[in-house]
Amino acid sequence: MAKDANNGAAQFLPDRRDLGALRGAAACCEGCDLYRNATQTVFGEGPARARFMLVGEQPGDQEDLRGHPFVGPAGRILDKGLQEAGIARDDVYLTNAVKHFSFVPRGKRRIHQKPTAAEIDACHPWLDAELSVVRPEVVVVMGATAARALLGRAFKVTQHRGEAVPLGEALAVPTIHPSAVLRAPDRDAAYAGFLADLQAAKRVA
Ligand code: URA
Ligand code: SF4
Repeated sequence: MAKDANNGAAQFLPDRRDLGALRGAAACCEGCDLYRNATQTVFGEGPARARFMLVGEQPGDQEDLRGHPFVGPAGRILDKGLQEAGIARDDVYLTNAVKHFSFVPRGKRRIHQKPTAAEIDACHPWLDAELSVVRPEVVVVMGATAARALLGRAFKVTQHRGEAVPLGEALAVPTIHPSAVLRAPDRDAAYAGFLADLQAAKRVA
């Protein structure tokens, strides 16, 4: 039977549920149309035993080209925050709500486009599978897209950032996306808030 590009990722999930099998299967996902123009699937990375799972939006331009999450400018903010919050890299599994880069071409540049609700839903089975394998203690939910994927459409990050919210057997700590720090008029203040939320996540683990 032909697999349907608009039926979501569920039909592409492997029988074996470990990170290697999931990553291999996700490389061939055609669960929504984003795979068509992106370079590759950017799956989550980190140890299966990580206590922290950090969830962003979707790969950006550099992540799309290099095949790893958070290796561009937002990743540098994130790395700095993790280090300053005392969260060890080998205690972190890093992933995104959507695994393919969504963009519109503008001349030679590719301009990031927010994933749609349908794309977030289509990709959700991968995030769910990652959660069920890693079973983190704390899920840091970075920005509105990750919040939409994990905490529902009515959830407001700005109202609840830095709080511990139940998420299955884990606690979710919502915060802003590190890209929002880069875009903020007062970058130092935005970074300080982001760091405070990471420190809150560290305390609840
Ligand atoms: N922004 C994200 O949300 N994820 C990445 O991997 C890179 C930038
Ligand atoms: Fe599959 Fe997600 Fe990529 Fe869509 S964005 S093709 S659901 S991996």
